[in-house]
Amino acid sequence: MSASEKYLHSFNTLAIHAGQAPDPLTGAVIPPIYQTSTFVQDGINVLRNGHEYSRGSNPTRNGFETQLTSLEAGHAGFAFASGIAAEDALLRAVLEPGDHIVLGADGYGGTNRLINRLHGKWGISNTPVDITDLSAVAAAVRPGATALLWVETPSNPLLGIADISGWAKIAKAAGALLVVDNTFATPFLQRPLTLGADAVVHSTTKYIGGHSDVLGGAVIVADRFFRGETLAQAVGFQQFAGGAVAGPQDCFLAARGLKTLGLRMERHCSNAAAIAEWLLRRDEVSVVLYPGLESHPGHALAKSQSNGFGGIVSLQFAGGEAAARAFAESTELFALSVSLGGVESLVCYSSEMTHASVIGTPLEVPKNLVRLSVGVEQVEDLIADLEVGLAAARRASLVVASA
Ligand SMILES: Cc1ncc(COP(=O)(O)O)c(C=O)c1O
Repeated sequence: MSASEKYLHSFNTLAIHAGQAPDPLTGAVIPPIYQTSTFVQDGINVLRNGHEYSRGSNPTRNGFETQLTSLEAGHAGFAFASGIAAEDALLRAVLEPGDHIVLGADGYGGTNRLINRLHGKWGISNTPVDITDLSAVAAAVRPGATALLWVETPSNPLLGIADISGWAKIAKAAGALLVVDNTFATPFLQRPLTLGADAVVHSTTKYIGGHSDVLGGAVIVADRFFRGETLAQAVGFQQFAGGAVAGPQDCFLAARGLKTLGLRMERHCSNAAAIAEWLLRRDEVSVVLYPGLESHPGHALAKSQSNGFGGIVSLQFAGGEAAARAFAESTELFALSVSLGGVESLVCYSSEMTHASVIGTPLEVPKNLVRLSVGVEQVEDLIADLEVGLAAARRASLVVASA
């Protein structure tokens, strides 16, 4: 019986055991890192356990893929060198020149850049849509041309909530695939494949690795047939033939991080909720974006499709751009940095740090916004640090007002 069959409903047990059985040769509780490029053959093309060359398969990578696939309730999973490499592989695996994508407008800037500037060259077009407006999503579908719908929820950095089942119905009716970027929620909070999505992508760099020490990405697919093959065949072939695989050291780190995802997410969520509530009471802040707040327009939907609201909080400053910049440059525990999802808190000035590629377009992020990736430190310490940031924001607003 595989670990996933034995512990079907228990997330934390699966996180530790699926794909991570002790080494049968030595009994090592932690499976070894198979730091090898190639595998000896017992005769020409007589492979041991199917392993030939690490671009095709590697036991450390395969163990991590099994672990993550079981947590996402997927059919097959594939690990890549970065989140963007995973996204690229999925797009190449399923699209053909001339295809059209309905693309959630509020999403990671790099995804937008990949789809527009790399895939655009190969004849892929897209229509950006408000992720919260299902009628706009349906209206953006071009019958016969739309092959893919792509959404990130919660979105980066505006924390909009998309109705995954609603998107899935529209995709199905169009004969297209629905891809959900589940990086922010993680499978601990939300499993898009159980809500009708066809594929999930992750930047495993974020919560899955969880310690800001590894880059990685993954595609997890449902058991679906598309354009004459299964998604597992299409993405698996792309992983092998395109070659942007995750290396064994990186998979080891990601697998180690994934074991504590549930524990970390509980703390990320409770810290973020406390901080969002605290920020709501501050005059320096004009808007707090956090799906856990009852005032958030996607609160009820997030509650219905997720087990929690995540660790990301975005805020907008009454004092405008100057206040946002001063805040981002003055906190200490919240280190000024791109990325998110590690145990340590980070602050990001999104419009110029992660979304510079959409400046000047309708997708531009407001200039008075900062995004917090709330870590798992003691929440009182984090709030004291935010207090320092707000004081700097206040001073910056006064300077602008008196100028
Ligand atoms: C939601 C989301 N998806 C994808 C990516 C890309 O992942 P990576 O940086 O690992 O290539 C990121 C990176 O910030 C992200 O935030």
